[in-house]
Amino acid sequence: MHFVVTMLRFRLLWLLVFCSALSSSSAGPPPFAMRISCGARQNVHTPPTNTLWYKDFAYTGGVPAKATRTSFISPPLQTLRYFPLSGGPEHCYSINGVPKGHYSVRMFFGLVKLPNFDNEPLFDVSVEGTQIFSLQSGWSTQDDQAFAEALVFLMNNTASLCFHSTGHGDPAILSIEILQVDDKAYYSSQMWGQGAIFRTATRLSCGTGKSKFDVDYSGDHWGGDRFWKAISTFGPSSDRPRSTENSIEQASKSPNFYPEALYQSALVSTDDQPDLTNIIDVEPNGNYSIWLHFAEIDSSVTDVGQRVFDVLINGDVAFEAVDIIKMSGGRYTALVLNTTVAINGRTLTITLHPIKGHAIINAIEVFEVVIAESKTLPEEVRALQTLKKALGLPLRLGWNGDPCVPQQHPWSGADCQFSSSGKWVIDGLGLDNQGLRGFLPDEISSLHHLRSINLSGNNVHGIIPSSLGTISSLEILDLSYNFFNGSISETLGQLTSLRMLNLNGNSLSGRVPAALGGRLLHRASFNFTDNAGLCGIPGLPTCGPHLSVGAKVGIALGALLSLLLIVICSVCWWKRRQNILRARQLATRDAPYAKARTHLARDIQMTRHNNHGHSRTAAETGPILLS
Ligand SMILES: *[C@@H]1O[C@H](CO)[C@@H](O)[C@H](O)[C@H]1NC(C)=O
Ligand SMILES: *[C@@H]1O[C@H](CO)[C@@H](O)[C@H](O)[C@H]1NC(C)=O
Ligand SMILES: *[C@@H]1O[C@H](CO)[C@@H](O)[C@H](O)[C@H]1NC(C)=O
Ligand SMILES: *[C@@H]1O[C@H](CO)[C@@H](O)[C@H](O)[C@H]1NC(C)=O
Ligand SMILES: *[C@@H]1O[C@H](CO)[C@@H](O)[C@H](O)[C@H]1NC(C)=O
Ligand SMILES: *[C@@H]1O[C@H](CO)[C@@H](O)[C@H](O)[C@H]1NC(C)=O
Repeated sequence: MHFVVTMLRFRLLWLLVFCSALSSSSAGPPPFAMRISCGARQNVHTPPTNTLWYKDFAYTGGVPAKATRTSFISPPLQTLRYFPLSGGPEHCYSINGVPKGHYSVRMFFGLVKLPNFDNEPLFDVSVEGTQIFSLQSGWSTQDDQAFAEALVFLMNNTASLCFHSTGHGDPAILSIEILQVDDKAYYSSQMWGQGAIFRTATRLSCGTGKSKFDVDYSGDHWGGDRFWKAISTFGPSSDRPRSTENSIEQASKSPNFYPEALYQSALVSTDDQPDLTNIIDVEPNGNYSIWLHFAEIDSSVTDVGQRVFDVLINGDVAFEAVDIIKMSGGRYTALVLNTTVAINGRTLTITLHPIKGHAIINAIEVFEVVIAESKTLPEEVRALQTLKKALGLPLRLGWNGDPCVPQQHPWSGADCQFSSSGKWVIDGLGLDNQGLRGFLPDEISSLHHLRSINLSGNNVHGIIPSSLGTISSLEILDLSYNFFNGSISETLGQLTSLRMLNLNGNSLSGRVPAALGGRLLHRASFNFTDNAGLCGIPGLPTCGPHLSVGAKVGIALGALLSLLLIVICSVCWWKRRQNILRARQLATRDAPYAKARTHLARDIQMTRHNNHGHSRTAAETGPILLS
């Protein structure tokens, strides 16, 4: 169940955008941008910027439906795709042809527009195997909770986005955006790079104005088309808004391309309440990257030293004696400060404490720093996908996305272990009593790290693949109560770690490999009962003697000859018996004649006794007479 976009068409379009961008504004090519309108049967263009959204026609999982947008932020799309639990617990969009780079990945959620539909689903979202978001109850009533967004490095030309059911309704996705940003965007010295994902927690634009996207501010697309939620006050009488029409220096610069307008409004603290304090709800026990935006836009502050304040985060000084004019180099000049903090509780409190004058702030960004999960070894994923097909895994088990990550949502039936190679591997398969009705493919041996396999109680047929013998770590193999047939491969004798082998309740036949029998007798538990005809180890019948081909041919010939002999003898005996019977019949029907014959027969006998030479003639006439 994967979504694949035909890249040829896409490249063409990209080229078009590229050309138009060249003629219009900023230097360099535009960023890669892929937008998908989930559940749409046609590509969609949305106002006001005529943004193109691709249909997701090639996607086979889930159900397309009409959408209710929960927030004015949500793109004006009419459809969504939702994923009933019966189709499995996880569903993924795997988007190919994404050039290696740094991306802002954003997904909007919607509600299925159907009466009596169990709405407001709660589910988890992962990007490249790392869980970035859990929808919280009440999300559909809060404008800025309608989406999840994260900054992530995509290195393998694909983007895998998965939605994980939590048992509270069917995940419903309105749109997906994969927007390239500068490779150095949001660079911070700590915990930054391919191993980290920045999940957007909040983005606030302080002062006057409405909530806006970068594009509404005519911001550069390399900024990732961010959404800024307007905040007009931090609390009653604690601050007052400021704004300016003056242009701002140092805005819209690489790597983050913040829109200039962001710095044209601000909140300034008052005499009543000198500290500016903003409290943001966060997930507990996380590391957060905090970005604070300043520009001196207050006409009353004209020089260095007139406005100085400390920035405290959860009570600790993060930036000491911030003097915007001094640090940015002038009035109407953007200043961005960033820091990373570990947070234990559920709140993040940012306090601007003035030392001189009042405190001022223009914008705040908060990201949760999530350590990117390492994925499962690709060859093991491929093997599991082959197994999924061959065994006819039921839909409800899912098996989409990565088997082991996000760790909150591993595939059911696959046990994972973190290997010394720094990747996840599969060390157990527990698919007992799952209604499997396929066969066990050779590819199972690609799961080199398996220690236990339980396929008991299914309808798996065909032979037990000999390749199982190469999984040297295998300790438990339970294939009982299936329809495995053929013989047990000699290679199973190579499994020196095997402690338990249950092959009972199948249709196996032939000799149990001697190596297996010998070792099992010592320390492993085994069960070969209830099969079609296994032999060769104690507890089972002895197999016939081992014979060469010549011997077998000999035996076969012998048997054939004996058969022929028996047939001939039976025919003779039968004929003779028939004659006797007929003779008796004649005797009862026509007595004199029969008597005469009896006499004759006696005569013949007498002749035989008396004269050996004549006996032959008599014997020859006998049959003629009697027939
Ligand atoms: C992605 O590419 C990197 C190297 O560029 C490689 O180490 C990694 O295993 C790849 N991941 C997958 C899932 O293919
Ligand atoms: C973020 O702050 C660090 C110092 O803590 C600095 O090295 C880095 O350049 C800053 N990033 C940006 C984009 O300003
Ligand atoms: C936060 O970062 C520190 C290292 O700076 C790390 O040891 C810790 O595990 C991180 N915590 C979380 C929840 O990621
Ligand atoms: C395999 O699964 C069956 C059925 O659930 C169970 O009875 C059996 O004990 C399992 N085998 C092993 C070796 O754990
Ligand atoms: C095993 O069963 C399959 C049908 O499920 C049959 O095609 C095959 O010939 C059988 N093999 C043996 C060795 O009996
Ligand atoms: C082996 O399997 C049979 C059923 O096929 C069961 O009755 C028997 O108890 C099992 N033996 C052992 C030793 O587990």
